[in-house]
Parts: sequence; C-alpha cells; structure tokens
Amino acid sequence: MLLQTALVALGATLVAAVPPLEVKGQYFVNPKTGNRFQIVGVAYQPGGSAGYNKESGIDPLSDEEVCLRDAAILQVLGVNTIRVYNVNPDLNHDKCASIFNAAGIYMILDVNSPLVGEALTSYNPWESYYDTYLNRTFAVVEAFKNYPNTLAFFAGNEVIDRPETTATVPPYMRAVTRDIKNYVKRHCDRKIPVGYSAADVRSSLFDTFRYFTCSLEDEDDDISQADIFALNSYSWCGESTFEEATYDDLVAGFKDSPVPVFFSEYGCNEVLPRIFQEVTTIYSDKMDTVFSGGVVYEYTQEANNYGLVDLSSSDKSAKLLNDYVVLRSQYAKLDWEAIQSKKPPSSDAPKAPTCDSKLITTKGFNSNFTLPVEPPNVEDIIKKGVKPTPKGKIVDIDNWEVKLKVYAPDGTEIKGLKVKKLKDDEINRAGVNDITISANSTTSAGTSSDDEDAEEDAAVRPAAALFTAVAMGAMAVLTTLF
Ligand SMILES: *[C@@H]1O[C@H](CO)[C@@H](O)[C@H](O)[C@H]1NC(C)=O
Ligand SMILES: *[C@@H]1O[C@H](CO)[C@@H](O)[C@H](O)[C@H]1NC(C)=O
Ligand SMILES: *[C@@H]1O[C@H](CO)[C@@H](O)[C@H](O)[C@H]1NC(C)=O
Repeated sequence: MLLQTALVALGATLVAAVPPLEVKGQYFVNPKTGNRFQIVGVAYQPGGSAGYNKESGIDPLSDEEVCLRDAAILQVLGVNTIRVYNVNPDLNHDKCASIFNAAGIYMILDVNSPLVGEALTSYNPWESYYDTYLNRTFAVVEAFKNYPNTLAFFAGNEVIDRPETTATVPPYMRAVTRDIKNYVKRHCDRKIPVGYSAADVRSSLFDTFRYFTCSLEDEDDDISQADIFALNSYSWCGESTFEEATYDDLVAGFKDSPVPVFFSEYGCNEVLPRIFQEVTTIYSDKMDTVFSGGVVYEYTQEANNYGLVDLSSSDKSAKLLNDYVVLRSQYAKLDWEAIQSKKPPSSDAPKAPTCDSKLITTKGFNSNFTLPVEPPNVEDIIKKGVKPTPKGKIVDIDNWEVKLKVYAPDGTEIKGLKVKKLKDDEINRAGVNDITISANSTTSAGTSSDDEDAEEDAAVRPAAALFTAVAMGAMAVLTTLF
C-alpha cells in the first residue's frame, strides 16, 4: 500500500524526458542506447549579446509563449541543442526548459553574462575573480541542474581573445572551471560537463586546448580539467572544402582530444547568401570521429546579420528567413539514423597529457599550471551551496500550440504550428516535426532590411565582442579583434 502510494505520487510528476547525456572520453554518449550523441545546434540569443538586462525581469528562457514559438520553429528546423548565452539564475525557467525538453532539445548554458561582475574579464582577469562572481556561476548551475536536457555549462567564452590575454587568462579560466566543477561535484546528482568555448584564433587555439584539457597529476579527479572543449569557428565561408576551410587542420589538432570537441558557433556570413555547405562535412566521416557536431550562429536576426529568424518586438511574431530554409534543407540531407546510432569505440579514449610547460608552443602563452587559489568565501559557498538556492524542475505544459504568429519567408502565415511532444527518451532530429515552408524566391537568403549596418558589423562576431566589451570598451573590440 505504502509502495503503491509512493508510485502514484511519483507517476504524477513523471514527464517524458530526453535522456541526460554523459561524456565518455572523446564523445557524448546517450546512456540509454550506448550510442554517440552529436550536437545539431543553434545559438539562441534573442536580442543579441546586448539583449540581456538583469532588471528587465526576463531572459531568453523565461517567457513561456516565446519559448513555445521558438521550440516549435527549432524543432521543425531539426536541431537537438540550443546554446543560451545569458541567463538570470533568479528567474523561473521551468516552463521553457520543459518545452525544450518535450521538443527533444538540449540546452548548453553559458554561466556568465556581459554585465560587470558576471564574467571573468580578459583584461586583468584577477580583478574579476571573486566570490560574488563565482556565486553567480554556481547559481546558474543550481537553476539548471535538475533539467534532464541540460547538456553542459560553458565556464567561459572567448575570454582568451587577443595575444596579450594568452599570458594572463589561462590559469584564471582553468581556476573558474575547477570551481564550477567542484560545485557540480558536490551539488548535482549527475556529472554535468563544464568546459570552455574558444575563439578560433589558430595561433593560440591548440595551446588553449592543451592548457584546459591536460591533466594535473596532483589533483583528485582532474577537477580543473575541462570536460568539453568547443570553438567558435568561421573559417568555412560560402562554397568551400574541408581543406580550403582548414577543417583538416582542426581535425588534425583535436585528433587525440581526451574530451568531446565541437563547434560552439559556426556559420560564416562573409559570403551571402549563406548556403551552410559545411553541414554535410561536419557530420561526415572526415570530421565526426573527432568532432561532435556544432552550433549554428544564430537564431535571431540582429544588426550583424547572422539570423535564421527575424523577430518582431511589437507583436512577438517571428518571420523565418531564407537562411532558415537553406539550413533546414542541409540538415534534411543527412542520415540522422546513422549519425545518431554510432557506437563509441570500445578501445580506451585518448589519455589526457600531463600538464607541463612543454605542451605550450606559443611564445607568451601562459605555461604556469599552478592555479590561483579560490577567492575568500568560495570554499564556503561550494560547501554550503548557493543561498538562497535557485531551483528548477520539469513541469506540465497545458497546450503545445504556438499562439504567436509565425511567417514563412514568402510572407505566408504558418498555421497550426506546434511543438510535437516527443516520447520518453526521444531526441529531436530533422523530419520529426515536418511542415512545408517555402523560401522567398524573390530575394537572396540571409539579407535583412538593415543591410547597411549589417555589413559594417559582419566582421565583429557578437560572442567575441560580448565579454571583450566588458573589459575593454567597445572601441577596443573593433580594433583588436582578429
Ligand atoms: C548568490 O546567488 C544567489 C542566487 O542568485 C543570490 O540570491 C545571492 O545574493 C548571491 N550571494 C552572493 C554572496 O553573491
Ligand atoms: C604560477 O602561478 C602561481 C599562482 O598564481 C604563482 O604563485 C607562481 O608564482 C607562478 N609561478 C611562476 C613561475 O610564475
Ligand atoms: C522577398 O524578397 C524581396 C526582395 O528582397 C523583398 O522586397 C520582399 O519584401 C520579400 N518578401 C517578403 C514576404 O518578405
């Protein structure tokens, strides 16, 4: 009787969920099937990097009707992951996380924000490494740890962004990774991976990779080693090839990675319209033994002209752009059954090299692996937990129909759009939610009405600009980035 009651009570709260993923060596693995998981993602940053405002009372995952609209659009596109850059841990994300979960879509969360005191700065990183900053990152972990579709946390994004920062940032960035991993270890009931999202600056990329993923022998459990490594890469523009886009160089450089590697942003817009030709290469056997997919930059159309969807601020309607249709057709070309049913190799994963200054090949890149100690109070916060504690949980959603208006690129309204609630353990992929969407045949893809600004800003990739802006001011961003 007692058992039965318990089961009924449990049953009442059971909602279909995606399987929480695990990291095994070089790959993400779905523990339910034993198969590899490859990220098919989109950067989800409505409003751009400047769109986050703590006082506004909203963040990208706090408005149910907006999330329902976007989850449906992304489910139809065929993605299984979103990357969300700026979240406020004190808001309630239950509805949005539950909607994306039901749609079979995972979330990668950046624990930082562009606001002062909410990110490690690339300039004088020691000045931003203090307890209230770390408390904020732990609060994001608390807010998202209970959702089965939380895939990973980025402890930093392009914090190493210029040659000067290779000298100062690495130990601090590795220390932040350590602190967040310590928090996860103590307070999460599964090992949610924590890692870094690097700028694809080839002169320092592989040193960055080795610095963050090597193993410190005197540490228990490699607590400061990144669990995943990702890069924001824009080297494939327009019509190109594996070699011309220097993807061969990336595959060679990451071949023996001890952790999963993937693109945390891709989708160069220097050649318009974007054709997303790299998609078929990223998920081909040229790449997929080393890479675990990637995240296309980005969902919403902003001044820098990378959008798949144009959002209206006045009536919250969304208009799909031709880029959306083109990307969708690239995803549709792939054999998802085959891609998501690969087994990780039975042989042991590549072992992480021991951290040693010999791993560092660039002059000026920091090769000191003695990390800064935690700032005062941080050990205590890690021990006792963030107070008050943000708490997230999967909740029921009453209605899966999108109420906000969504238009196809040709201007026709898409009727009857809804999130298709997937079965337990099911993950989204192309074709699961299938509706016909026509491109606007009278225009070239990817261009928006504000083309002039767009062209000017195209070279400044917002994710890179984001944290640099905090540290250096907007002018420095323009003059120093790449
Ligand atoms: C820690 O984070 C929580 C949740 O965001 C917040 O309410 C609290 O004020 C923070 N504490 C400190 C010391 O920063
Ligand atoms: C390495 O970093 C640690 C911690 O910041 C510092 O105490 C030590 O002096 C550094 N060693 C060298 C050789 O710079
Ligand atoms: C289609 O593209 C043309 C040319 O760019 C543009 O003038 C027109 O407004 C677009 N139609 C819709 C419905 O957006």
